[in-house]
Amino acid sequence: MKKLQSYDVFKPGAFPEYTYISRISSELMFTYEFRLKQALNTPGYLTSIIGPSKTGKTVLCEKVIGLDNMISLTGSDFKNSTNFWEVIATKLGLVVEGEYSKVNTSKESINEENMRIKSIASRDRYLANKDTIIDYFKNNNLVLVLDDFHYASEELQFDIAYQLKDAIRKELKAIVISLPHRADDAIRKNADLSGRLNLINIEPWKKEELKKIAITGFDKLGIEITDIFAEKIAIESLTSPQLMQSICLNLSLISNIDEVNELDMTLLDKSYKFTTINLPYKEVVKKLKSGPSTRGQKRKTYKIDGEHDLDVYGIILKAIASDPPLISITIDELKNRVDHLMVNIEDKLDKNKLKKTLQAIQDIMTNSEAIYQVFEWKDEQIYILEPLFLFYIRWGVNRK
Ligand SMILES: Nc1ncnc2c1ncn2[C@@H]1O[C@H](COP(=O)(O)OP(=O)(O)OP(=O)(O)O)[C@@H](O)[C@H]1O
Ligand SMILES: [Mg+2]
Repeated sequence: MKKLQSYDVFKPGAFPEYTYISRISSELMFTYEFRLKQALNTPGYLTSIIGPSKTGKTVLCEKVIGLDNMISLTGSDFKNSTNFWEVIATKLGLVVEGEYSKVNTSKESINEENMRIKSIASRDRYLANKDTIIDYFKNNNLVLVLDDFHYASEELQFDIAYQLKDAIRKELKAIVISLPHRADDAIRKNADLSGRLNLINIEPWKKEELKKIAITGFDKLGIEITDIFAEKIAIESLTSPQLMQSICLNLSLISNIDEVNELDMTLLDKSYKFTTINLPYKEVVKKLKSGPSTRGQKRKTYKIDGEHDLDVYGIILKAIASDPPLISITIDELKNRVDHLMVNIEDKLDKNKLKKTLQAIQDIMTNSEAIYQVFEWKDEQIYILEPLFLFYIRWGVNRK
């Protein structure tokens, strides 16, 4: 057998065959896999999975359902079409023209013949096709997964919910996946669906769970990693299994472990930096650091240890990035961090000033695109929404 390479084992962007970690949901005391299996075996119910970005929602479905049985569409697949069933038929490669009887319901023959897909003109045909499609799912033991549901417009979300309501009654197995905050009210708060929902909330990853990725992966590669180092990387990964996979992969590549069969832990910081290279936060940092327009006036700046002088916006970002990396930071903790950063002890930024500045940053984020929603300032706390953003400001190119 060919020796496993580090890129076989650590898979930051795909299904982690060798480093898949099963987690127990603290809400349910069962594994997520068990919960999803059970949900799919409740005929007449729709499954709604909600969880922060990159916490393994898609990977969980792939694990439980298997790629062959999963028909996956995303919220944006529905953008250009008002016909839900047509989009699904297209995805399946089903012919949606003509009569019910013309549709061949064997998956293989449909995929082999490159059949023509025509749009459905009348509502009658559309209704007939809907049943055909549901039968097709049932006969082939398929599960419909509507991934990234939040990408569909609100109007579309309600339309899809309406279609699903009827379809699940006919025992179509379906899962809707979305992020928290970008609410899927169309599903979870839909009176028509209440009592017919299986709710699965994916929690952020805990340090112990993240550590398992490193320990399992390096073990598969026949390389030892001490508990202390696995823990170090897990702390840096915050709550993100993807970040953990990325850092482990980059550490392996930089250490050249596939050749030398040894990990060089002195290269850890270098691997962190390397891991930030492809993160898309350069413009985000720039915008948040600049703050609102001052109409040409210069803000007061402060002397910071080992850095250029920074204004209050720069200092707040720097304080968020300080050690230890935390997913939520109280205003008191932030104030402490800010005080520590100041070189001149007479330089003070009081709590009120910090709060006002945080509110201004929050306003900028709220009025910008999704990529800018990296943290949230509410109830006197900063909540990191994007662990990768925090990692970026800790280790990105600007770091001295
Ligand atoms: N159970 C797991 N064990 C190990 N690694 C995992 C696990 N789940 C996810 N990962 C890692 O995290 C990455 C992201 O997972 P996934 O794409 O499923 O997240 P997601 O929640 O669907 O993200 P998005 O919100 O962007 O759709 C995976 O490619 C893998 O590297
Ligand atoms: Mg996903």
